[in-house]
Amino acid sequence: MRNTRVIAIANQKGGVGKTTTAINLAACLAEQKQKVLLIDVDPQANATSGIGVEKEEGKSIYSSLLGEAPLVSFIQPTQIPDFDLLPSEVDLAGAEVDIARTDSYLHPFKEALTPVLEAGQYDIILIDCPPSLGILTMNTLTAAHSLLIPMQCEYYALEGLSVMLRLVDRLRDGGANPDLEIEGIVMTMYDMRTNLSQQVVQEVATHFDEQVFETLIPRSIRLGEAPSHGLPIIEYDPRSVAAAAYRSLATELIDRIKQRRKKTIKTAETGTKDVEESTESVDSEGVTETDQDALAADPGHLESPLDERPDSVNAQP
Ligand SMILES: Nc1ncnc2c1ncn2[C@@H]1O[C@H](COP(=O)(O)OP(=O)(O)OP(=O)(O)O)[C@@H](O)[C@H]1O
Ligand SMILES: [Mg+2]
Repeated sequence: MRNTRVIAIANQKGGVGKTTTAINLAACLAEQKQKVLLIDVDPQANATSGIGVEKEEGKSIYSSLLGEAPLVSFIQPTQIPDFDLLPSEVDLAGAEVDIARTDSYLHPFKEALTPVLEAGQYDIILIDCPPSLGILTMNTLTAAHSLLIPMQCEYYALEGLSVMLRLVDRLRDGGANPDLEIEGIVMTMYDMRTNLSQQVVQEVATHFDEQVFETLIPRSIRLGEAPSHGLPIIEYDPRSVAAAAYRSLATELIDRIKQRRKKTIKTAETGTKDVEESTESVDSEGVTETDQDALAADPGHLESPLDERPDSVNAQP
């Protein structure tokens, strides 16, 4: 029986490396003896085709979200050992409309996922989200233990992040997912030759400190090519710098999960939070000091001009 960690990979900004990270992190975790399930909840189905699986009508979480079929019936193995996939399909876009009509629109995914968690078959479930904060992403964040945010090393990297963090707060405070954690921020498409990449990493690290993964994912043509061959980078070009980076990210993630579990056990044993061990304090609003520092230091930069949160987030679940 495995203790499954469910990690949503999300950022409402498009093209920041969510799917690339989902596929390659999943493959590297599996290589490091983790039993992994990747769930594609993006109607674009890039994670599905990127790992070499055909999109097929009716083979996605769609009917599970409507309570019509068990989620487990759509899980299939990939060509990588210990790496299973729950594919997506274009029609999944219609699920948003169908779910919006139901009473408990934030919870269908969590309910569909519960039997998989109870079966304890997986160490880690990664969920590749679409580039929006619509109902599919919100369902994912309601079901997940944590959120992993890929961020592109570009000038406007931080833009929109405050919107994501506020959504996390709302899901926590509204009771939809009180324990939702930030797993970390992964900097992607890092170009060591440019000052800009270094400056962006520096800035994000200043604001978000230890929440940023040490591993930087380099900009790499090979990473862009791999999905058209239906392969993760560790199969397509195992000796590349990009393959090494995703392996290192997988190691870092496994370590983080282990550390968190140790802290949780210790906290449960002592009944108090070990302040020394805690890297950040979380206030009653669920906002970390790091986030508050970031907002206080540079509110204009972090403030998004648009509040992209859909109305449905404002409602209580
Ligand atoms: N580190 C990288 N180096 C070079 N190209 C990359 C890298 N990461 C991703 N890409 C390429 O950038 C594009 C966008 O990446 P990806 O699809 O992973 O982003 P995404 O956030 O999932 O996009 P969307 O928001 O549309 O779902 C793809 O063509 C991908 O191959
Ligand atoms: Mg994607």
